[in-house]
Amino acid sequence: MPVSVVIGAQWGDEGKGKVVDLLAPSMDIVARYQGGANAGHTIKWGDETFVLHLIPSGIFHEGTACVIGNGVVIDPKALMDEIRQIEALGYPVAGRLKISHNAHLIMPYHKALDEAKERWRDAEAIGTTGRGIGPAYVDKFARSGIRVVDLLDRDGLRKKLTAAIEEKNDILSAIYGSERLDVDAIVDEYVEFDQQIDPYVTDTSAFLNDALAEGKSILAEGAQGALLDVDHGTYPYVTSSHPTSGGACTGLGIPPTAIDRIIGIVKAYSTRVGNGPFPTELEDETGERLRAEGHEFGATTGRPRRCGWLDLVALNYTSRLNGFTELAVTKLDVMSGLPELKVCTAYEIDGKTTERFPTDLRTLDRARPVYETLPGFSGDLSEARDIADLPDAARDYLQFVSDRLKVPITVIGTGPKREETLVAS
Ligand code: GDP
Ligand code: IMO
Ligand code: MG
Repeated sequence: MPVSVVIGAQWGDEGKGKVVDLLAPSMDIVARYQGGANAGHTIKWGDETFVLHLIPSGIFHEGTACVIGNGVVIDPKALMDEIRQIEALGYPVAGRLKISHNAHLIMPYHKALDEAKERWRDAEAIGTTGRGIGPAYVDKFARSGIRVVDLLDRDGLRKKLTAAIEEKNDILSAIYGSERLDVDAIVDEYVEFDQQIDPYVTDTSAFLNDALAEGKSILAEGAQGALLDVDHGTYPYVTSSHPTSGGACTGLGIPPTAIDRIIGIVKAYSTRVGNGPFPTELEDETGERLRAEGHEFGATTGRPRRCGWLDLVALNYTSRLNGFTELAVTKLDVMSGLPELKVCTAYEIDGKTTERFPTDLRTLDRARPVYETLPGFSGDLSEARDIADLPDAARDYLQFVSDRLKVPITVIGTGPKREETLVAS
């Protein structure tokens, strides 16, 4: 069966964009299934760098079609901007991009609510990207969302949008003390999206299932990471969707039986942006060094990412949740030069050692990492053309991770560029 899924195995920013871009030439279709413009997927080639937020990371390969599935929440303004930027670079989007008619839209009031609620949470703020993701999914599940298909009916849209803005204005002003939004200005602006978005709108579930029937290959591109999953992540410090492999089926309208390859993307160390538990976080020189060497600043918000050692307790958990059939380990080069490498293999909680990831926050907050220490390696890994060219200690580190997770490593990142990647033969 020809569906592969790429999933962030940690808290996002593992290098999914780079791996999807690498695999895209061998795929007929690349499809995003959840999240929205909270994602920032970086692709680097030659002297070019592009950060994709909504459009799948297959867009720079002209033979690959791209799909934004029903599970994604779409900010029409962000989408049209991104399309224009990609076309300005000389890559055609029209005719190659298909957007689900059932995907929900992010409206200005979702962003205003995201911002207001974060302010209201104060010390308990999640540290969201401010892209309106949570409030848009709330409306979807409350069955009061506005979908892509609604954009194609101007009169209907005017009515729905006016009612929605009036309701949200009451919430914004009465509960959060925020300014009311201008109903007419928003309605006038958004009814104009019909002509711009119409050429892309498709029943993408039917499109994908037809493609499967023709034996075509599909790569489902996850956004965020498994530990940010709304059900299985470090709730409430999560995003509002399902980045995990099950989300690919509901977010695209394809059956689970169509999936035969689940690639977990693992950064060689750990990062997290935003608030919430992070047992292996390093608030010392090593953490600073990882941030500086790894350029660990958010691709969407520019915020510094929190950095720490690799956490195999968390990774065993996300491997189990997703059913990883293989792993891509990125940013191995960033660890070069560290005298020793620590890997968390267990947690100590209230004096007891466990290898099981606690899924309730109060327990997780008390978890202290238990480390095993491996020798460090040095040198410029981006020069390696084959896994055999890597320093012995780098290969030993990868072997240790693969053995403990019981999943083979098939891709290794040795630098940010497309060509700085080693693929197991
Ligand atoms: P994504 O959200 O999972 O697609 O990841 P991001 O793009 O947010 O963050 C990953 C960052 O690491 C980007 O700046 C990438 O260019 C960079 N990157 C990806 N793989 C590697 C690698 O193997 N080595 C290095 N040094 N950088 C990498
Ligand atoms: P990619 O796809 C890293 C984090 C935010 C915050 C939490 C909730 O680039 O890996 P949200 O705006 O989704 O309501 O924020 O989730 N977050 C991400 N962290 N990478 C991402 O995406 C993220 N998308 C959201 O920082 O902690
Ligand atoms: Mg990112």
